Amino acid sequence: MSLDEHRAANLANWNERVAGHTANDGYGIAALVADPDHISDVVAFDRDAFGAVDGKTLLHSQCHIGTDTVSWAKLGAVVTGIDFSPTALAAARSLAERVGVKATFVETELYDAPQHVPEQFDCVYTSVGAINWLPDIAEWGQVMAGFVKPGGQFYIRDTHPMLSTLDDERSDELMTVTLPYFETASPLRWESDQSYAGSATLTNTINYEWNHSIAEVVMALLDAGLVLDELRELTHLDWPYFSFMEAEGERWYLPADRRLQVPLQFSIRAHKPG
Ligand SMILES: C[S@@+](CC[C@H](N)C(=O)[O-])C[C@H]1O[C@@H](n2cnc3c(N)ncnc32)[C@H](O)[C@@H]1O
Repeated sequence: MSLDEHRAANLANWNERVAGHTANDGYGIAALVADPDHISDVVAFDRDAFGAVDGKTLLHSQCHIGTDTVSWAKLGAVVTGIDFSPTALAAARSLAERVGVKATFVETELYDAPQHVPEQFDCVYTSVGAINWLPDIAEWGQVMAGFVKPGGQFYIRDTHPMLSTLDDERSDELMTVTLPYFETASPLRWESDQSYAGSATLTNTINYEWNHSIAEVVMALLDAGLVLDELRELTHLDWPYFSFMEAEGERWYLPADRRLQVPLQFSIRAHKPG
């Protein structure tokens, strides 16, 4: 199968997930609309990454239905969200209107984004389930760095690639490595008629993902001209990877006696020299 075919399958899958993600309140849309001060839990965790964003331009890459994009707008950022799913962007535009914030949303394949969004930004942000959909992390680094203004900042928080190597279907609660840690030319093929939020049954069930090691992600950004400010490994996730994980509010952890065994997410702060 070609990259275009993988991408087409993923696009169909993502377009179809949107109805389920907006139909129930798994994405916390009601609170974003009802309370002007409410921001998503994802942005509540990440907001200090850029310092004060009031009046700063912010690009949100792979913005999905815009819950985090509008959260940054509520904090005062001048936001642009990009995503390849027109269905997700329609939901994002509708959310921004209901919330009453200004936001620009641009439909684009990640790797084509520089052709559709010509400007650079003070802050470039991407998070929680983004880079596993992308085949080439080095090229992603070039795209992300290209969007950062000289003197501007970049931040990512995403699933730790070590976690993504582990089998999540065992019944004995052992954490065993069964999937590749490093980026592979061929993706992993998954099939599911459910998404992680909502209960809609999908018909476009096939999707393709790529893992990228921590070094591959860091070097993608450094090779593209960014300077590393902070690399963190985190013990929580915004969704349950294993059935035996435990929820604390919106966040999911390994049981207390196993919490330090495996990192669940990583975050990177970087900047472009001014
Ligand atoms: C899990 S969401 C990530 C975002 C965010 N954390 C959220 O949950 O709202 C993944 C997003 O990546 C987008 N996406 C996947 N592959 C893409 C690609 N090749 N180019 C642009 N967007 C892509 C999907 O449409 C989806 O909206």
